[in-house]
Amino acid sequence: MIAIILGTRPEIIKMSPIIRECERQGVDYFILHTGQHYSYEMDRIFFEELHLPDAKYRLDVGSGSHGEQTGKMLAGIEKVLQIGSPDHVVVLGDPNTALAGALAAAKMHIPICHIEAGRRSYNRMMPEEINRIIIDHISDCLCTPNELTQGNLLKEGIDSTKIIRTGDPIVSAVREILTVAQESSTVLDDLHLTPKGYILVTAHRAENVDKKERLEDILTALRALSTEFSLPVIFPVHPRTEKKIRVFGLSLEGITVTKPFGYLDFLQLEVNAKLVLTDSGCIQEEACILGVPCVTLRDDTERPETLTIGCNVLAGTNPDRIMSASQRMMSLDPGWRNPFGDEHSGKQIVQFLCT
Ligand code: UD1
Ligand code: UDP
Repeated sequence: MIAIILGTRPEIIKMSPIIRECERQGVDYFILHTGQHYSYEMDRIFFEELHLPDAKYRLDVGSGSHGEQTGKMLAGIEKVLQIGSPDHVVVLGDPNTALAGALAAAKMHIPICHIEAGRRSYNRMMPEEINRIIIDHISDCLCTPNELTQGNLLKEGIDSTKIIRTGDPIVSAVREILTVAQESSTVLDDLHLTPKGYILVTAHRAENVDKKERLEDILTALRALSTEFSLPVIFPVHPRTEKKIRVFGLSLEGITVTKPFGYLDFLQLEVNAKLVLTDSGCIQEEACILGVPCVTLRDDTERPETLTIGCNVLAGTNPDRIMSASQRMMSLDPGWRNPFGDEHSGKQIVQFLCT
């Protein structure tokens, strides 16, 4: 029995190929949803669009400080693991949900499989970096995206026999759904957009949006980009960011602001964008896979392979830096090769867990 623990938007999306593979192979598994994300457009919509079975267990932990949120998850997950008695626990990436899942399992001596192991930004001010390091060091099987992330784990003294290079399941998630998105989404028409005729933006990192100056700088940069390139800037706003824009009383003039999109509409927007600006982890990967240049609104990244191959550039939040990075990336020829592996990672991970 495999316990798949998830709770946030990117975990639902990236776990989808693994869940589908469990269904395909008739593997015994259950989904435990912590409820870290709970708004319809951050949670349920992905289960519907990706045709995922409902979670067997839901903790409804909701939002809170790191300690409060992680603590509630830990207590709830422990109870579920006692009832469900799985042979393996699978967690993905770096959110508090993954940390709580791994910690609960480790204390109960249940083998942990960490998907997306070995990513490092080497910035411990990021809560996610702390989570990644802890999860990797208490996991029994580390499914890592590529040579670089594998090397990060080896440098930290993690036993090489625990590491398996599977690629990143985002490649399967994108490839399995892109055609459906292109055939079914009407988002371009709905927003009166033309292919390559707009810039797509997301921002939700605590270090960006919880600070008034940094968030204000991002919004100033977006307005400047829209004027400079005479292109609409489409900004689906994460609930954390929406709250902060309201609290800080910031202006959204000159920017097309929307609610978060489902995966079908968002992929359609991404693949047709002239440029993507983001501080999201997953979107740096997706833009690279989809052949769309990316400007990352951060000073570091746990995906430096995207910088090396040239599909992504770091610009922080300074409006001048964002402008010059965008000018450079707009004229780029997207001839790079995706460094995250192929679409078989879901299958490989499930096969490994079942042997
Ligand atoms: C979390 C992860 C982050 C990941 C992101 C994906 C941690 C530490 N952070 O950040 O790594 O990139 O998810 O999107 O785990 N809110 C809602 N509805 C929701 C969820 C959140 O309104 O469904 C609002 C609440 O006001 C909440 C805030 O968003 O306080 C932040 O949510 P939280 O889950 O704490 O962190 P994220 O910023 O979403
Ligand atoms: N995404 C989406 N709708 C949106 C914004 C993002 O479906 O309006 C998807 C996006 O395609 C990617 C994932 O959500 O697969 C990224 O999630 P997020 O940026 O919240 O988290 P991170 O990757 O930074 O942890």
